[in-house]
Amino acid sequence: MARIAIVTGGTRGIGKAVSLALQERGHTVIANYAGNEEKALAFTAETGIPAYRWDVGDHEATQESCARIAAEIGPIDIVINNAGITRDGVLQRMSFDDWNDVMRINLGGCFNTAKATFAGMRERGWGRIVNIGSINGQAGQYGQVNYAAAKSGIHGFTKALAQEGAKYGVTVNAIAPGYIDTDMVAAVPAPVLEKIVAKIPVGRLGSAYEIARGCAFLCSENAAFVTGSTLSINGGQHMY
Ligand SMILES: NC(=O)c1ccc[n+]([C@@H]2O[C@H](COP(=O)([O-])OP(=O)(O)OC[C@H]3O[C@@H](n4cnc5c(N)ncnc54)[C@H](OP(=O)(O)O)[C@@H]3O)[C@@H](O)[C@H]2O)c1
Repeated sequence: MARIAIVTGGTRGIGKAVSLALQERGHTVIANYAGNEEKALAFTAETGIPAYRWDVGDHEATQESCARIAAEIGPIDIVINNAGITRDGVLQRMSFDDWNDVMRINLGGCFNTAKATFAGMRERGWGRIVNIGSINGQAGQYGQVNYAAAKSGIHGFTKALAQEGAKYGVTVNAIAPGYIDTDMVAAVPAPVLEKIVAKIPVGRLGSAYEIARGCAFLCSENAAFVTGSTLSINGGQHMY
């Protein structure tokens, strides 16, 4: 059945691949982005998917934007909380702003979109929320106390909200990607990246489409019995 889906940070990287995977499965997709107009315009021109600009870390803006989407397009049944940023640095050099920005956007964004959409999903008796966590939230990472804490928080958020949605046909799951070939990873210095790839048993970075296919499965009718779970897609880099 065709549903209405929003993908935060859906205009490039993993989010773009998720937007396309959900569109391929017949859903009406709306992508969100923070401020990169050029990429957003190119994305809409290429895919026909509308892109709405707002900061997912801004609670009021998220409530207003989701209400606007529901009014203009229809009730939101699928939410992919994918928008995320990094502000890396060892603790001595990490500012309070670096900490707050990452918590506000990466973890706060999940709360904000869930607040805007979860009640409607429950009332209609069907919903899918997929939160994009990270291998670094599972295993930790040097220089990322903010990012690892926010992503680890996403995994707890997922398990708690899954319990609230289960009786109402609303599933809540997380995906923990390993290192994926996107702009975010392109920002990692080449020597560091080489060392990272050397630790991936599959021997390469993942592609955004490999995350998107997992996400599309978790959003499908067939995944109704999967909730509160974390799907690790990381080339074998972290197993537990
Ligand atoms: N790439 C990896 O290896 C990897 C690994 C594990 C987890 N992840 C997670 O996967 C997700 C996507 O990563 P990516 O590599 O595809 O990132 P990316 O290429 O940097 O793209 C990030 C997307 O998020 C949007 N965004 C950032 N801050 C936002 C905000 N405050 N409000 C709304 N949208 C915002 C960006 O919008 P603009 O285009 O307007 O800037 C962009 O569309 C992130 O949550 C990331 O932490 C990535």
